[in-house]
Amino acid sequence: MNIKSFLEKKKSGEPLTMLTAYDYTQTVWCCAAGIDAILVGDSLGNVIQGKGTTLSVTLDEMIYHTEIVTRIAKQKCDAKSRPLVVADMTFPFGHTGIEDGVAQAARVIKVTGCDAVKVETTWEDAPLISALVKAGIPVMAHIGLRPQQILNLGKFSIQKAEKALLKDADAVADAGAFSVVLECVDADLAEKITRQVPIPTIGIGSGAGCDGQILVVTDLLGMDPDFVPKHARQYATLAQTAIDAIKGYVSDVKMRKFP
Ligand code: KIV
Repeated sequence: MNIKSFLEKKKSGEPLTMLTAYDYTQTVWCCAAGIDAILVGDSLGNVIQGKGTTLSVTLDEMIYHTEIVTRIAKQKCDAKSRPLVVADMTFPFGHTGIEDGVAQAARVIKVTGCDAVKVETTWEDAPLISALVKAGIPVMAHIGLRPQQILNLGKFSIQKAEKALLKDADAVADAGAFSVVLECVDADLAEKITRQVPIPTIGIGSGAGCDGQILVVTDLLGMDPDFVPKHARQYATLAQTAIDAIKGYVSDVKMRKFP
């Protein structure tokens, strides 16, 4: 998968599949399952570091995980169907100046070899997106609910501001983003945005009318026994499987049945 073939999926109407991954094992699983694109999300602040928000995640931490995922995707995925690897830019990306933003994103691309960066954004960041694209850095925009704005938002909720979100979507597409994530956008509005913009929309908690879907891998696999976001669907319950397996091991060692 490359940027061109990603864009072509919108024309062909074939839904795009995207999942987060942060390490060797998850990347191997994504390759084996034929995922179109992997996001090394700053959600690693929540699901890897257990921090509750994404705000503390550093660029160096993103680079550490993205380098692993990109290298393993290149080694383990079939060359023809290798997923696109996209790295999240960290809070407060874009608010330290355009030059600094381009330098940060260029560092991520240079060090990790990933294919693109994702930027939480609004129409106001169009000049930053244009500068990144001009520098040769493909950009996936992320509008709607923006977890990096949690301190301003207070809580996460469905985004319904039609005029503002249509403006954001048009602006990021005009600025050259090759795709846009719609997070927790009202489903009818997400469908309207999808019809309006020429680039693929990737939904999370935004209904079935988007060009593709993304989930956080730990949600899809049921890896957190205490938390499942409302929008997620668990396709496995790995937490219970793992806890049962570890209990079996503990019991066997205590009973001198292992080794
Ligand atoms: O960081 C992340 O995993 C994300 C997805 C939820 C879209 O931004």
